[in-house]
Amino acid sequence: MSLIKKLVKLLIFIALVYAVGRFVVVFQGSLLTGYRAPYVQMVTQDSAVIRWMTEDSELGVVRYGENREHMPSIMLEGSSNKNHIVRLTNLEPGTRYYYQTGKVSGYDNRHIEKQWFYTHPDTVKPTRIWVIGDSGDPGPVADQVRDSALNWMRENPITADKASTDAGPLIDIWIALGDLAYTSGTNAQFQAALFEPYSDLLANTAIWPVYGNHDDRRWTYFRVFDLPQSGEAGGVASKTENYYAIDYSNVHFVMLDSQESDRSKTGKMAKWLQRDLAENDKPWVIVAFHHPPYTKGSHDSDEEYDSRGRMQDMREIFLPMLEQAGVDLVLSGHSHMYERSHLIDCAYGSSAEFSEQNIVSQGIEGEQKQYQKPLPLGAHQGTIYAISGSSSKVDNGPMDHPAHHVGLREAGSMVIDVVDNRLTARFINNEGQAKDEFSITKDAEFSSEYQGCNK
Ligand SMILES: [Fe+2]
Repeated sequence: MSLIKKLVKLLIFIALVYAVGRFVVVFQGSLLTGYRAPYVQMVTQDSAVIRWMTEDSELGVVRYGENREHMPSIMLEGSSNKNHIVRLTNLEPGTRYYYQTGKVSGYDNRHIEKQWFYTHPDTVKPTRIWVIGDSGDPGPVADQVRDSALNWMRENPITADKASTDAGPLIDIWIALGDLAYTSGTNAQFQAALFEPYSDLLANTAIWPVYGNHDDRRWTYFRVFDLPQSGEAGGVASKTENYYAIDYSNVHFVMLDSQESDRSKTGKMAKWLQRDLAENDKPWVIVAFHHPPYTKGSHDSDEEYDSRGRMQDMREIFLPMLEQAGVDLVLSGHSHMYERSHLIDCAYGSSAEFSEQNIVSQGIEGEQKQYQKPLPLGAHQGTIYAISGSSSKVDNGPMDHPAHHVGLREAGSMVIDVVDNRLTARFINNEGQAKDEFSITKDAEFSSEYQGCNK
């Protein structure tokens, strides 16, 4: 046998060993094992999913009702499992339900104080949104970000009556901007970075995530989350958990997958997005995806090889669709800091191509930066882009992208309130300070001087 043939055989053998080894590592890291406290998922107007994990295989039971002392409804699993998934249906909208998990021989009392959830309302009401990004590095910084935001929300209720804990949940919609478990999104890393530090919240508040690059290194993400594929939470059915929509009060949320799904103009995600946005009748639209269209943070959206062009794809292919549909706010992570634009439009090129022509409004200075938009929702009225990717760690970067008005090298998260025709957003740092605050007010009387970009 010639030396070349021997070498080729050796290379094939090495590649095979690597592929098998890689498969074993991915498979093992993705196995759902161990105990996991109960958590709620995919809460809608009339349903919710209750999940938990046990060391032993057992037939799971959930009892639930509107009174903790009296939970008359019971759902039993079809077969014994270690990974328990129970869907509660025929619920009333805007209602607080208490629940308790267990097995046929008895209920688990350990978490009972935290086990409740509110179904989504079928009316318009003040909506508080908590946004964490790149939260997957457990430790003191992540804990500070969590505690400071929760404390801030308790101390600053969205409306006066929300000061009472009986007036509704602290958080109506909880968004995670991807990379929930560093470094590889294994089951153990999800446990350490999400299910343990956030267990008190996960027991009663559904988390709505987008898919990040670190989540994509194992198969855990789609195994631990139940996300709407059939329009269960509102919007058009996406037929995939990779991207989906949520309606809550007067806000339409669109959660895109900038990591794995086809990002081409004629791909399934783009087609679904256009249909979903065309059918939306809510006056506010917030969109989230992991890879930011504009950043000079720990990633650079000008570098076409950074993140294999995903930031560029989202900017060039998806931003025109979003702005055509009048999207108000776009949230991303991936860069581990906070960056935020003015109301901008039609900036689909590199940072060098960004000009003042792309700025719809620089807002009015005050205690908070105030922007105005017309009503109803219309094409190219201006969109604010925010990157909030420092909920567990902060990295370096020049933060000098001309699309951005604010850049903060600080750990934190965002709290966004939508009350009627006003959206107020803040970046709350890990010391509990509101470091950037802006509002968008929509007014039928308002007419913008911005003439549009005609692109
Ligand atoms: Fe990332």
